[in-house]
Amino acid sequence: MTKKILSIVGARPQFIKEAALQKALQDTDMQEVLVHSGQHYDLNMSDIFFSTLQMRTPDYFLNIGSGRHGEITGKMMGAVEEIMLKERPDLVLVYGDTNTTLAGALAAVKLKLPIAHVEAGIRQEPKDMPEEINRVLTDRTSNWLFCVSDLAKNNLAAEGITKGVFVTGDIMLDIYQLMQPQLTPEIYMQKYDLQPGRFVIATIHRDFNTDHPAVLKKIVDGLNEISKDFQVVFPVHPRTAKVMAEHGIQTLFPCIPPIDYLELQSLTLAAKAVITDSGGYQKEAYFANKRAVVVMPDTGWRELVQAGWNVLATPDSITSAFEEVLRPAINVPSDIYGTGATAREIVRTLSL
Ligand code: UD1
Repeated sequence: MTKKILSIVGARPQFIKEAALQKALQDTDMQEVLVHSGQHYDLNMSDIFFSTLQMRTPDYFLNIGSGRHGEITGKMMGAVEEIMLKERPDLVLVYGDTNTTLAGALAAVKLKLPIAHVEAGIRQEPKDMPEEINRVLTDRTSNWLFCVSDLAKNNLAAEGITKGVFVTGDIMLDIYQLMQPQLTPEIYMQKYDLQPGRFVIATIHRDFNTDHPAVLKKIVDGLNEISKDFQVVFPVHPRTAKVMAEHGIQTLFPCIPPIDYLELQSLTLAAKAVITDSGGYQKEAYFANKRAVVVMPDTGWRELVQAGWNVLATPDSITSAFEEVLRPAINVPSDIYGTGATAREIVRTLSL
């Protein structure tokens, strides 16, 4: 019998993961109902990903928008529950660690619908960061837990979760490989007047880096310092832009609005290094063979730090961490996150 999957997305990294899954589903007889919560809604935070990654239009758009965490999670739960009741899927699929992820998982588990969690078992400090809360709770409700690596599997085992756990690699690598032929560094370097290897790309949006203006100021000071030697490409997330504007935090270089997948990955190929607090982007830098300064007290992607590829930094230590990533890393395996066949493996497992 044809299985019906209800997939829920809402934020940038989820569009990227869903793009890979949609392509793998095309070769099966499984039916997918796609729900977009509307957590990200700006053109350059949402629609642009659907067009660039050639995704189909969601079947439902919840239009939830921004708000307090509890408020938007609750609104999403109510709205998605109604769709679940109407659609009666065989399973619900959620990705990653956003408020959309948790809302989907909680609504499903209350309706006793089986849940598949893509990117299960990631753990990081601080435990009170919203993404960590979302991951831990989603993992506890899930029936299929798709892990990117053994480390994630071990994290789950340490919490007593061993059933339904599959190590499938990283679904973000699937889409990276698929889009690779379309990457055009020259076009975008020309757009921003950049020289290959003479610029870095920075992205900052985490609550612990943006909610306190003094912390964000230190990060921007670090980028300003680096900009004396390298051009800095800084696509600014709306929440970061808001704090910078409100508190007069200024860069010595021009900022740009968020950019689409092809533009970011194209530029990364020609960059010297990456500075980021994004979960997905610290791995994409590795896919592009670029080292990253990760501005976080800890990362869910510890494999890359343990391998000596990425370097963790505090807001005070960005420049010294940057010096470190300018040096070549040695003996780092190229297949830490699998081979790019994750979506197919997930779909195969779910179809059994
Ligand atoms: C969310 C995820 C995070 C992920 C990130 C990717 C949670 C808790 N966090 O963080 O895991 O790495 O997405 O970008 O779900 N805003 C806009 N327009 C938009 C979207 C957001 O202006 O289209 C502004 C709003 O002021 C909003 C703020 O950005 O309140 C934060 O957005 P939100 O979705 O809550 O969190 P992110 O920081 O994007």
